[in-house]
Amino acid sequence: MQIGPYNIEGGVVLAPMAGVTDVPFRRICLRRGASLVVGEMVSSKAGLRATDMTMRRLACDAQDRLPTVQLLGADPSEMASAAQAAVEFGAKIIDINFGCPARMVCGKACGSAIMREPQLAQSIMQSVVQAVNVPVTVKMRTGWDEQSKNAPLLAKMAQDAGLSAVTVHGRTRAQRFSGAVSLSDIAAVVHAVTIPVIANGDIDGPPAALAAVRTSGAAGVMVGRAARGNPWIFQRIRAVFEGHPDPGEPTLDDRCQTVFEHLEEHLRYWSEQGRQERFAVHSFRMHLRPYLREAADADASGQAQRMLDEIVRIEEAERLKENLETFFSSLRETN
Ligand SMILES: Cc1cc2nc3c(=O)[nH]c(=O)nc-3n(C[C@H](O)[C@H](O)[C@H](O)COP(=O)(O)O)c2cc1C
Repeated sequence: MQIGPYNIEGGVVLAPMAGVTDVPFRRICLRRGASLVVGEMVSSKAGLRATDMTMRRLACDAQDRLPTVQLLGADPSEMASAAQAAVEFGAKIIDINFGCPARMVCGKACGSAIMREPQLAQSIMQSVVQAVNVPVTVKMRTGWDEQSKNAPLLAKMAQDAGLSAVTVHGRTRAQRFSGAVSLSDIAAVVHAVTIPVIANGDIDGPPAALAAVRTSGAAGVMVGRAARGNPWIFQRIRAVFEGHPDPGEPTLDDRCQTVFEHLEEHLRYWSEQGRQERFAVHSFRMHLRPYLREAADADASGQAQRMLDEIVRIEEAERLKENLETFFSSLRETN
C-alpha cells in the first residue's frame, strides 16, 4: 500500500484509539508487524492544544518511521494550523477524523458529524492539504445513518482535494459500534476512488482481514479493539496477506515475554516523560487486563482470576513484576 511517497509494507494499520494507543503500545505493535500506527486523536483547538494531554498526544515518537497524528475539529483554518503544528512536532502523515461518533467534541459538532456537511468536509480537507507538505489521509464512517451513506462522495472529495488515502469504518454513525460492518459499503468507496482505501471494523484475526480485503477490494486493513492485549494480530494478518499460513496464537512464553517487554517500555517511556512510577503502573492496567483476561477466563479453578484481580490493584512496579512472574508460573504449571 502506498500513502503519498511512503510504501506501507504489509498493509495492516493500528487504529487510533484515544486513551489506548499511547507511544509504548504503538512501539509494541510496530515490533509485532503493524505497518503503520496512528496516534490518539488530537483536538485542533489552539487552546486545547496547550493542555498536557494534547501535548502528549501530539508527541511524535523518534522510534517511529512514520509518526501519524490524527486531528479532530470543525474549523478549516484551525485544522490547518493544527496540522502545521503537528508537522513541526515531527508528524510524517496527518489523518483527519471524520469518524468519531461523540455528539460534541471540543464544544462543536465534529468527527462523524462533519459527514453531514460535505462542503465543510471538503473545505477542511483542502485547508489541511494546502497547509502541510506531508501526506494527508482521512478516516470516516460509511455515512451518518442508513439513509445518508455518503462515504463514496466524501472519499472522491478527499481524492480531489489531494488526500493520499481513506480509511472507512464500515458502519454508519447511527450504528456507533453495534450491528454488522458492511464490507459492500466499503467496496462502494473503493470503486469511487483510485487512492488506497483501508477497511476498518471488527477485524479480529486473519480470516476477517482476508474477507475484508477480498470482499471490499481495500488496499489494507486497520485493526482497533482486537489489537488490545493481542499485538501479535499484526504479524498474523501480514503472514496470510503474503500467502503464508497463519502462525497462530502466541505461546504462553511469547505472551509472557511480550507483557514484560511492554511493561518495561511503558515504565521507561513514562519515566522519561517525567511521570511518577505510580502513574505508569496505573496506566498499564488498561493493557494488562486484555493481555491476561483470556488466561484468567480459561482457568476453571478461578485462581488466575483472583490473581488478576490482585495484580490490577498493585501500585508499585517491582511488586507488579513479581506478581506477573507468579501469574505466568502458575499458568505454566496448569498447562
Ligand atoms: C477506546 C476507543 C477509542 C477510539 N478512539 C478513536 C480516535 O481517537 N480516533 C478515531 O478515528 N477513532 C477512534 N476509535 C475508533 C477506532 O479507531 C475504530 O474505528 C473502531 O474501534 C472500529 O474498529 P475495530 O472494530 O477494529 O475496533 C476509538 C475506538 C475505541 C474502542
